[in-house]
Amino acid sequence: MSSNFSRVSALSLAPIKNISLVLTALAVLSLSACGGGDDAKSAANAVKDDMAKAAETVKEEVADVVDDVKEEVEKAMDDMDHSAMSTEPPTAVGGDDGDPCNITVTVGDAIAFSTDAISVPSSCGTVNVTLTHTGKLPAQAMGHNWVLLPEDSLAEVAGAGMGSGLEGNYLPADEPRIVAATKIIGGGESASVSFSLDKLEDGRDYIFVCTFPGHWNIMKGTFSVSG
Ligand code: CO
Repeated sequence: MSSNFSRVSALSLAPIKNISLVLTALAVLSLSACGGGDDAKSAANAVKDDMAKAAETVKEEVADVVDDVKEEVEKAMDDMDHSAMSTEPPTAVGGDDGDPCNITVTVGDAIAFSTDAISVPSSCGTVNVTLTHTGKLPAQAMGHNWVLLPEDSLAEVAGAGMGSGLEGNYLPADEPRIVAATKIIGGGESASVSFSLDKLEDGRDYIFVCTFPGHWNIMKGTFSVSG
């Protein structure tokens, strides 16, 4: 029994502070058992009691640690659920700092922008767009950018951008039809771009899009100028 106990203790209960007490008790117990006689026996019994108490304490401490770990794991899983699987509608939009020319767009670990329509007043002159990636995935896996271009150029421009890779932000170089573009960002990152509304042609439809491969057919929205 004692050899079993010490083996179990050494293997699984090593980090617990009472382990030294248990081991001392075991050593005394085996010494006493060798000596024989009533004194030795009662000493052995006393040590046995101490050992049982110590073992009980160790058991409780292990249970506490297990509870703590369980709690932390559950908490971590909760957090993950919220960030990775949230079905809440993404937060919109523009001008939430009171400036209608200052647009905020949020993205996460899904192929979606927080809004599918942006409208700015013509009085803006210059528009600033800030793209914030609130997800956890890196740009290589779930990169997003915000690119403004004429709607009728989308397939051609986005298609040509594939060849530029992540380094080239999945955009063709020297493409005059691109009005504005942020770089591709990953989880936890943010990027901004400013552009003049003078770059937009009257009577032409514009869209914003993410040119990450596989995204541009889904991640897009209308961009319009009012007034
Ligand atoms: Co994207």
